Amino acid sequence: MTAIATTVMMKKGIGIHNRLPNGFDAIQINSGVVHHKEHTGSQVNYEHFSFMPLYIDEAYIPKRDWRPLDKLEKRIVTPTESLKDHNNIYLGTLPEKAKQLIREIDFSSCKSREDVMQRFGEHKELTMALNTELHNFLQTIANDKSFHLHCITANLPNVEMVACDITRLHSNFTIPEKKYMGMHNDGTQFMTLHTTYKHGNRICINLGEETRYFLYINLSMIQVYNMLKEVTDISKVDVYNVAETFFKHFPEYPVIRMAQEPGHYYIAPTDNCFHDGSTLGNTKLDINMVYFGNFTH
Ligand SMILES: [Fe+2]
Repeated sequence: MTAIATTVMMKKGIGIHNRLPNGFDAIQINSGVVHHKEHTGSQVNYEHFSFMPLYIDEAYIPKRDWRPLDKLEKRIVTPTESLKDHNNIYLGTLPEKAKQLIREIDFSSCKSREDVMQRFGEHKELTMALNTELHNFLQTIANDKSFHLHCITANLPNVEMVACDITRLHSNFTIPEKKYMGMHNDGTQFMTLHTTYKHGNRICINLGEETRYFLYINLSMIQVYNMLKEVTDISKVDVYNVAETFFKHFPEYPVIRMAQEPGHYYIAPTDNCFHDGSTLGNTKLDINMVYFGNFTH
């Protein structure tokens, strides 16, 4: 498929409800994405790993021209609608007690996910106390009180785009064989572009020792659908090819990047918007914990 890139002004869409003390200092914007083949990758060197990340054919990567948001952009991403889980990103920090427990478990020596799980195992009491603290906190922000732990993930440092569809790999794959997806939506076969907003959101907590990034595009899947129907045969677009189709047509649509410090969380409707995480520039293992639910704060 070839497409003519269309320039479009940034729209008001999925806003950022920000409770971080440093406010907009944690948020940056860029001038859009490039196809991974036109992108100069960043080598990953960590422990015994030394490799250049690979990407799936249809991957698009945010450009690196990050800058602070201007006045108009700040207005665009500031939510005006009442709080709903599917049209807002929430940024915040965990209660102090939970952060203290994370520091006490101390993941500083961890070099892999196995090390992280071992650390939890070696500190059962602290782990149970953390579980209780997190549970109590999540109950205060979960709308219908139902949520569940989805995963604990570790990413190598300096991985520009962390998401990977491991179902595409053989069973004994190694980390350098992973093919990263670039900016993507998480939708499944049970969703259409008109139903992704009904599937709740996730909270991702940074358990690591370094600041990581969450990146997103401030458009819901229905907004994306409406933009694409003006420029392409919309009957061929589904939750699987919507990212590639959108980025072919609108590569200049800006990406927003949020710094997620240790002990900070983001909440995002990841079925309903293009997004990814990044550990670009980091030197230590990235560790995060994800719960699924319907969160607002
Ligand atoms: Fe994702």
